[in-house]
Amino acid sequence: MPSILVAYATKHGTTREVAEVIASELRARGLSATLRAADDVQDLRAFDAVVLDAYDAVVLGGPLYHGHWHREASRFLMRHRRALEALPLAVFALDPACAPVPNAAERACARGQLEGALRKAPWLTPVDTQLSGAALDPSRLHSRFNRMPDTDWRDWGAVRRWAAALPAALEIEPAPASTQIPAAPAAIPLDVLTARAG
Ligand SMILES: Cc1cc2nc3c(=O)[nH]c(=O)nc-3n(C[C@H](O)[C@H](O)[C@H](O)COP(=O)(O)O)c2cc1C
Repeated sequence: MPSILVAYATKHGTTREVAEVIASELRARGLSATLRAADDVQDLRAFDAVVLDAYDAVVLGGPLYHGHWHREASRFLMRHRRALEALPLAVFALDPACAPVPNAAERACARGQLEGALRKAPWLTPVDTQLSGAALDPSRLHSRFNRMPDTDWRDWGAVRRWAAALPAALEIEPAPASTQIPAAPAAIPLDVLTARAG
């Protein structure tokens, strides 16, 4: 079964939630998707051969903070350069959350920030890059920022559509339906079992 690593960097957890949805959409399409924090994937370079065997593609996501992609997302690109040169890669970023509604100028700015981060890894050619909206819980922020509006304009429909298009973009064939693992059957209630036994 084709296998995809979905790696994410996060400070407050909203990117991880997007990565979870992406991984579950990929699984629903007959792919094996492994969800990992980007900084947990420490040994990709040391185990290149294993990783290249283990994964057919990588999806990497991280939020933008103060004009920069999350440090662990950028580090992931640098740390795993050798492996990533040989694997199809798609990236996503969570972008401004300070406007009450999505704002085209801010989104263009965020896209520039993501592209700036990717330019530092010129050896990469991501098959796709995506901005996934953002979320912000001001109560978690330090006092300078905690008057910002509570916002969540992650567009889950767009996230799911992007994930659905990933196998084609990454040139990964989903497993044929006949080889997909069927969903576990629902448990038979105890009273039904008892009635059958009786
Ligand atoms: C202090 C602060 C600075 C931010 N700076 C940026 C930024 O420069 N560009 C941007 O597009 N989004 C920015 N954002 C929005 C975050 O990327 C967004 O809230 C994201 O959902 C956070 O992801 P996380 O929960 O995974 O850490 C900022 C948010 C905060 C709280």
